[in-house]
Amino acid sequence: MSKNAVADRIKELREQINFYNYKYYQEDTSLISDREFDLLLAELIRLETAHPEFADPNSPSQRVGGTVSKTFATVKHEYPMLSLGNTYSEGDLFDFDKRVSKGLAGEDYAYYCELKFDGVAISLKYRDGNLVQGITRGDGVQGDDVTANVRTIKTIPLVTRGKVPAKFEVRGEVLLTKQAFAQLNKEKEEAGEELYANARNTASGTLKMQDSAVVAKRNLTCFAYSLLGDDLPPTHAESIEKLRSWGFNVSPAGKKCLSMQAVIDYIHYWGQKRHELDVETDGIVIKVNSHAQQQQLGFTAKSPRWAIAYKYQAEQACTALRDVTYQVGRTGAITPVAELAPVQLSGTTVKRASLHNANEIERLHLHYHDYVFVEKGGEIIPKITGVDIRKRQAGARPVKFIENCPECGTRLIRQEGEAQHYCPNEKGCPPQIKGRIEHFIHRQAMNIDSLGEKTIAQLYEAGLVRSPADLYTLTLADVLPLEGFKQLSAENLINGIAASRAAPFTNVLFALGIRHVGKTVAEKLARHYRNMDNLMAAGKEELMAIHEIGERIADSVTAFFDDPEHRQEVARLKAAGLQFALPEDEGPASGMLNGKTFVISGVFLRHSRDELKELIRKNGGTVVSGISGKLNYLLAGDKMGPAKLAKAKALGTTIISEEDFEAMIQQENDF
Ligand code: IVH
Repeated sequence: MSKNAVADRIKELREQINFYNYKYYQEDTSLISDREFDLLLAELIRLETAHPEFADPNSPSQRVGGTVSKTFATVKHEYPMLSLGNTYSEGDLFDFDKRVSKGLAGEDYAYYCELKFDGVAISLKYRDGNLVQGITRGDGVQGDDVTANVRTIKTIPLVTRGKVPAKFEVRGEVLLTKQAFAQLNKEKEEAGEELYANARNTASGTLKMQDSAVVAKRNLTCFAYSLLGDDLPPTHAESIEKLRSWGFNVSPAGKKCLSMQAVIDYIHYWGQKRHELDVETDGIVIKVNSHAQQQQLGFTAKSPRWAIAYKYQAEQACTALRDVTYQVGRTGAITPVAELAPVQLSGTTVKRASLHNANEIERLHLHYHDYVFVEKGGEIIPKITGVDIRKRQAGARPVKFIENCPECGTRLIRQEGEAQHYCPNEKGCPPQIKGRIEHFIHRQAMNIDSLGEKTIAQLYEAGLVRSPADLYTLTLADVLPLEGFKQLSAENLINGIAASRAAPFTNVLFALGIRHVGKTVAEKLARHYRNMDNLMAAGKEELMAIHEIGERIADSVTAFFDDPEHRQEVARLKAAGLQFALPEDEGPASGMLNGKTFVISGVFLRHSRDELKELIRKNGGTVVSGISGKLNYLLAGDKMGPAKLAKAKALGTTIISEEDFEAMIQQENDF
């Protein structure tokens, strides 16, 4: 292919991909199959990789991210990012309307109403139809340049459609959809990590992440709600239509309202309807529609006089507290739970709400049979915000935290300065024992899916299993008498347990259920110590010297291994044949890459990046992060940044593919 032909094809592919992306994300229409789409993208990536001179940061190939920003540059906003005056009262809206009417000296005017999205504001700058910069609100005057992360948001056009002004700016809200947020929390839960409390803070944190490839995986979305620039159409409604036609994601909910009464109707309609949307909204934004009139009304120091936000009260319900029950977690932590008379709240029925700990009960001055207020704002879990004291019966007794474990009767302890009560009977308290085994078999741990909560309870009650190590002593004869088991299901269970012996060391470490050691921490510890003996010998200070391991984790790890019963359990698991070390690693498998340096970039078909790193290391090579004149090889995968590629080319670095690399080390390693 001639250079011109390549350039033409790249252009054509980008246009096609942008078009299909637009149809898919903005209009919900799939015009081609996923496979056909992937083929187009693969062809584009191949051509861009082979011809880095045609690299373009706004190519649709760049959606996957891959840029790591240690810090974000601070950028001054061309138009300050103001906030909005807001109110919870409809009466205030009529006052606002009076001010507008007065400010416009009797002229006719209209409003434009929109949903108020509960996310993070973003400012997007475009030049000649290309996205050039994405900046966070910051303090309103200057914000952070998060362009690399913004480029991964599929509902933000990298290149606009149709004829656009040479220069314009778009404001919008970046959010995580409820679905994306739930998915993220599901992954967190499976990894045994603490859940994110709400979608807004998570979206905000995501936008400031250093690795844009991680941002890309989070599936942020964006709604555009204002257009700024020199040649604006006469009204906001027309701006919104323009944005839509240029390829921006604008909410279909926006509506022109000719009177304050129409605004109020709009507010009432969306008050209910908003719960059906896949994004969080916390109110309505009311804007004067004409841009000339907006200018006439102007701004106060902080906000425009031509707009106001009406905020919905976080939906609240009042219901009877029937009882307080207590849950015992696998770590022995006791969680008080309010058992409520069922009540409808933001589209779901609420029957229970966590009271977290004794301090919370104290804070609420909770009494038995109180009527309590329950709220469920942007948070996923309903919370009790207060008590309706007027409804309290005379002589009602205050809720008193239990003193003994509801499951095993052991006296509870509460460490100095800690909010949580614990049942110290770690070895004998049934939910703690069962909880530890449930954790042990978890998908991210030993992944024994032939076992479930119900079977664990059966095994426990039959006296067959008291700790994870007991699982490996189970025989068919043990299982067959249990209710619901037949030859096949019993064999299946035993085989599933046996197969878990192959689970990697990291999973085993996580499976032990050491407090504060989630999957990520387990991975760090495994990588650092490589085997269980090394880890068990580590002292607190040594542990704390590892990046991101703090005192809390170090204390928990050392306390765990100081316990003779835990050491014995570990020894039994080891004897059962579980993996207690990362795969053998006795120096270089070959010295064929001795002295050679590599940069790994992009996505690979047959190996993960970590596997490639390991292979390079095993064969005597070194992996470095930056491309320099001294670099020997750039190991380039799919979707690597064109800038990196261009730099490597310019420096004359040898660029190799995954296959080239495999061939290089083929003689010594069998794939
Ligand atoms: S217009 C001059 N429209 O609410 C301010 N803002 O308190 C113009 N927001 O920072 C903002 N949805 O992040 C506007 N449809 C919408 C909005 C919206 C959410 C956020 C935005 C802004 C904050 C204002």
